[in-house]
Amino acid sequence: MKALILAGGKGVRLKPLTNTMAKSLLPVANKPILFYVLEQIKEAGISDIGIIISPETGHYIREFVGNGSKWDVDITYISQVNPGGLAHAVKTAETFLGDSPFLMFLGDNLIHGGIKAFVDEFQSNLPNALILLKKVADARSFGVAELDADGKVTKLVEKPKVPKSDLAMVGVYLFKPDIHLAISKIKPSARGELEITDAIQQLIDDGKTVHSHILEGWWLDTGKKDDLLEANRVVLDDFLKRDIRGKIDTASKISGRVYIGENCVIENCIIRGPVSIAENCQISNSCILPFTSIGEGTIIKKSSIGHSVIIGKCRITNIEQLSDSIIGLESEIIKEDNGFKNLSLFVGDNCKVVM
Ligand code: TTP
Repeated sequence: MKALILAGGKGVRLKPLTNTMAKSLLPVANKPILFYVLEQIKEAGISDIGIIISPETGHYIREFVGNGSKWDVDITYISQVNPGGLAHAVKTAETFLGDSPFLMFLGDNLIHGGIKAFVDEFQSNLPNALILLKKVADARSFGVAELDADGKVTKLVEKPKVPKSDLAMVGVYLFKPDIHLAISKIKPSARGELEITDAIQQLIDDGKTVHSHILEGWWLDTGKKDDLLEANRVVLDDFLKRDIRGKIDTASKISGRVYIGENCVIENCIIRGPVSIAENCQISNSCILPFTSIGEGTIIKKSSIGHSVIIGKCRITNIEQLSDSIIGLESEIIKEDNGFKNLSLFVGDNCKVVM
């Protein structure tokens, strides 16, 4: 059994962050999303992993993941020059996949509780495909599955105007190698992409069995700004443990589940968890409120920050109320007078905002 992680694509909806970073390397609770994916694949017992990368951001992924030894897995990088859709990515990886059954995992998706049960189910029943589904309130922006009474998938529709079910396709799939033949039969969709939804529908039309597994825990797709903030909130809320390693002065009050990394200096601050502060940060005369992740090497002075992701090496000074924000690497947010009260920002890497 092999695994294929899709970490190419354009990441248009997360620009400008994705101009200089692969979407799957964006941090959730100070850890790249791709690392959660790799951990879950390893936990499911798969060690032979291909990663689809784009020419623009692939080198970042190679740098972060290397040869996979950190997770005790073997990594093969597969470059997809034009992101022609999820089924196109599978086609690009055909040589790597060979005639092996495989797990396909979108590199910007997070699944609560991992995928081991799902992989085990596939290996014991061996359908042609097994797809993961999640009940959603409004299915119109997803690939939607219709099932028969036994849970067998009878129809898949991409972004239906009037969904016939509330079951959305989650970014994790298991395939036998006959998906390659199905992909060879499909044509690009109206948006010009080879859709995996169409390839799975082709399997159904060819009389193959497509089973489904309905996910009970959360599923987070981090494709847009608010999704990334929500993923950060949920992961901090569910997994963060109190662990304080840096230097905290006696005037500071730290409450709840707070992680403070090595070599941090915290002076005269209020920090209310869940909050994660990575290594080498300096924070003074500030208030850090729940659901905030602060990346490595950040300096914060006289500011209040809540429900935000500060990616790293940032400088934030004199900001009275920063919330619902994502701040890219090496950005500076500095307020020089008191004209504004509330700020909600979405600022890319290497930006400087002075007010
Ligand atoms: P999407 O979120 O569907 O696409 P995208 O990453 O290009 O983002 P946007 O729509 O904002 O431009 O992709 C889901 C995952 O699959 C993501 O990790 C990127 C990856 N992907 C590929 O590797 N190759 C592809 O051709 C496409 C479309 C996506």
